[in-house]
Amino acid sequence: MKSLDDLDVAGRTVIVRSDFNVPLGDGPDGTRIITDDGRIRASLPTLGDLRRAGAKVVVVAHLGRPKGEPNPSLSLAPVAARLSELLDAPVALGADITGPQARALVGSMSAGDVVLLENIRFDARETSKDPQERAALAAELASLADLYVSDGFGVVHREQASVTDIARLLPSAAGRLVHKEASVFARLLADPARPYVVILGGSKVSDKLGVIGNLIGRVDRLLIGGGMAFTFLAAQGYRVGDSLLESDQVDAVKGFIDQARASGVTLLTPIDVVIADAFSADAATEVVAADAIPDGWRGLDIGPRTAALFAEQIADAATVVWNGPMGVFEMTPFAAGTRAVAEALAASNAMTVVGGGDSAAAIRLLGLDEADFGHISTGGGASLEFLEGKTLPGIAVLEEH
Ligand code: 3PG
Repeated sequence: MKSLDDLDVAGRTVIVRSDFNVPLGDGPDGTRIITDDGRIRASLPTLGDLRRAGAKVVVVAHLGRPKGEPNPSLSLAPVAARLSELLDAPVALGADITGPQARALVGSMSAGDVVLLENIRFDARETSKDPQERAALAAELASLADLYVSDGFGVVHREQASVTDIARLLPSAAGRLVHKEASVFARLLADPARPYVVILGGSKVSDKLGVIGNLIGRVDRLLIGGGMAFTFLAAQGYRVGDSLLESDQVDAVKGFIDQARASGVTLLTPIDVVIADAFSADAATEVVAADAIPDGWRGLDIGPRTAALFAEQIADAATVVWNGPMGVFEMTPFAAGTRAVAEALAASNAMTVVGGGDSAAAIRLLGLDEADFGHISTGGGASLEFLEGKTLPGIAVLEEH
């Protein structure tokens, strides 16, 4: 895979695909504000290097899933403003993507300038299943530039016009972020130092079936928390009250439990949980054993004994991967489990990798120091597909050239 160092970018126009799919909240006067800018900051090494080398930088990105038509609430305007602050340079927004206004903007650029094209998913061809439609949009994008740099690690698992098709039309390379992330995940797949511990959380086990199936053959310990843990508890015959439960996954989970036992992998599920009588920060709460969740109550975090058990499993590990929060960390009464796991990772000397937007956002929201974590991935689905051992189209296409 070529890197930025293999491209001669001085005076040339470079399209950079970044992943600026950041969480948004409502600001004053109905404006949209960015609640976590981690993905924008992660793009700075590539954008900075290109600017210093004298490139004209045209950034392409998406925000949300606008279904192929313009949607003002998913405009990249707040991202352009934040990027401009972080770069300490103007970032103009190409509002019509590959239309006359964007073309004129790109045509007027000087070395070191940055233009951000509007949400590429406002154009239905970006995510089209029809390769010809995608190729047509890719050709329009390619006609704006001389070179292509793939730096949106969070989208490399997508076969989309600005991720894969364009890389076939222009001399291409991986940006700093894609290079760094791909190397970390390749190392996890090929040769992880042991003991190798993976902690999985988040709400849905159905999103993680592939990754669990792949990991059972590779890891030494698999620790399960978050909403998905209740399907594991149900698979062990426990009643889970009103907790999240994917009944249609109970058999698959039973299969994982058997597989782990047969292959000598330690699979740990919560031994206690924080329960609440409603999904609310003001709900009544209690800590109960995992097999004693009463009807009418729901588990919203792992309990303190589980948190201590997980921290112990992390303490002597040589490689730790964490994907998905342990509870509803956005609400203070249910944040302790996620905080305990994050603190155990921060204190560990292991190679630590945090994957998935939610876990990375949790680290920042809980006020922990990002510098204490080995690698915080910007990829959600992409990092999971890497761990599943799948071929990612946005990486494969860079390796073709
Ligand atoms: C993500 O947030 O994981 C990436 O930006 C990909 O977004 P998508 O799942 O909408 O393709």
